Amino acid sequence: MADFRDAREEIRGRIGILDLVSEYVTLKRAGKSLKGLCPFHAEKTPSFTVNEVFGTWRCFGCGEHGDIFTFLMKMENLTFAEAIERLAQRCGVQLDQPDSASSRRAGRKEILAGINSLATGYYSAMLKKMPSAVKYLHDRGLADSTIEQFHIGYAPAAWDGLLQYLGKKGIEVNDAIEAGLLIRSERDSFYDRFRNRIVFPILDIQERIIGFGGRAIGDDQPKYLNSPETPLFVKTRSLYGMNLARKAIASADRVLVVEGYMDTITVHQAGFANCVATLGTALTQEHINVLARLTKNVVLTYDADSAGMKAALRGAYMFEQAECDVRIARLPKGEDPDSLIRTGKVAEFATAIDNALPIAGYRIADLLEKHDLSTVVGKTAMLNEAAKVLSEVSSFTDRERYIKELAAYHPNWGTGTAHAEDHIRADVETQIRKRHGDNKPVARPNVKAGRPGALDQALRIVLRVLILGEEGADTVLEALSPEKFSGEVFQKAAEALFGMFREKRGIYLTEILEKSDPETANFLNELAMREGEPPISEKALKDCLAWIENSGISKTRTSEILAPGMKNGAIDPEGWSEGQGESFSEYLRRKGKLKRADE
Ligand code: GTP
Ligand code: MN
Repeated sequence: MADFRDAREEIRGRIGILDLVSEYVTLKRAGKSLKGLCPFHAEKTPSFTVNEVFGTWRCFGCGEHGDIFTFLMKMENLTFAEAIERLAQRCGVQLDQPDSASSRRAGRKEILAGINSLATGYYSAMLKKMPSAVKYLHDRGLADSTIEQFHIGYAPAAWDGLLQYLGKKGIEVNDAIEAGLLIRSERDSFYDRFRNRIVFPILDIQERIIGFGGRAIGDDQPKYLNSPETPLFVKTRSLYGMNLARKAIASADRVLVVEGYMDTITVHQAGFANCVATLGTALTQEHINVLARLTKNVVLTYDADSAGMKAALRGAYMFEQAECDVRIARLPKGEDPDSLIRTGKVAEFATAIDNALPIAGYRIADLLEKHDLSTVVGKTAMLNEAAKVLSEVSSFTDRERYIKELAAYHPNWGTGTAHAEDHIRADVETQIRKRHGDNKPVARPNVKAGRPGALDQALRIVLRVLILGEEGADTVLEALSPEKFSGEVFQKAAEALFGMFREKRGIYLTEILEKSDPETANFLNELAMREGEPPISEKALKDCLAWIENSGISKTRTSEILAPGMKNGAIDPEGWSEGQGESFSEYLRRKGKLKRADE
């Protein structure tokens, strides 16, 4: 083919625009044209169209347009000449310019792919000669057809098996080193990189073998060894199984992302062909871009261990940034897709995929599992963390849906759902404000409404002083008794606090919360959560006590509070004991831990 322009027309005639574009974009027929999501800008509704007759494409969103050559240039970041070379090669058109730098580069990659292909043949043949390696694969549940489909092979334990083989095939040692298959030793001799390993060839969408993963059969370290990066093998861009999964991802309009080679293979064998894995690296933006062009629906199915869960969340946030509907599947603890399927639980795996949760739901499910929800303390801790998660949910509707679900765990649940929801909502809003630098908590609705605001406030402040063991606690104990607290929940809270102070010299909130009924516990917890606020000043406390007194709650005498039977206290077990002529408040005062309001 002498003339360059002729070659272009020749290529255009051989490669349909549809064939090329649909390798990257999922196209759906819309009337006469074909539409899909534009690969060149982020969008949710398709405005990228392809015209089969003219062989052109155009995006009505970003205005980009062109033919097969410009499409590949933009897609793969190629020069015009490189795009032509790539397409020429693909359809078997001969180009007549062997000296250009890009064709040399392209040629390099083809040489490496060729060597990898020879190596794959060698490893396959070696597998057939090694019954123990075949047994290993069979024991891991792989059928012979799967072994063939994935071109799985075996690298013998020798140092020079592949070296000899490639030598016989006339391959230059330096080329095999560049392909990552041989290693040059310090003494300038050469040896095989993969030894006594199961070998998983990695193919790109053009079915070129770009690299290998090798799994140790015994206890050799590392467990997995990958080819190094080469001009052909770019790990941050490559996904294992992509060659087999691409069509299925497009037709199912969904991709399953897993962590490992074996996961991918087992999942494919179980009938889910839309599955790929990263190659022992974390998901990169390039991986995300490659997948998001094919589908916006992503299910991450990572190992159910803490590393896997962390990695899944990280990946999920990246997919979310790319405007994908991303979900995370929850597998039973300690399992990975491979282990689950291999033990016959394909149905369980399928259910996990179908029930995969969006980010917030996944994090909340984790909280529900992490906390002991049989106790008020556990429920409260869970709800506090859940409020933080929900504060990151941008959709109001989604947030409300979660709040409704979580209300069932609220200690106030029995006293009315709307009430519980209001509390959670207030906490979520507090978290949202916090993120914007506003640390003022949103007022939670009162547990019992209908009381004059100031008295209510005064009683809360007084109870809070007790709960937090602030300086005025003794003053409160001296001035009031629980019977004087009007309102059922206030009275119950006061009884619990006064009782514990009498018995233990201090407040053990967890213990009180566990003994209290849900409503009281929640009320106490709500008071206790105001921890970040500044302590009540002596003056404010005095005002409160005066207010309560004026509202008809009378003073009680100190002797009532220092009831008989008090034991050595939690504040200073050695320092104070009853019956030595000194009241507890006098003791505190002497220690400088308490000051009189008038001091
Ligand atoms: P099996 O034990 O064969 O089932 O592997 P696995 O996939 O369950 O292993 P794991 O969850 O530990 O690892 C997941 C993936 O991380 C593997 O498929 C590899 O791609 C990669 N990986 C694991 N171990 C290593 C290692 O030691 N080195 C490198 N480079 N990658 C590893
Ligand atoms: Mn595994």
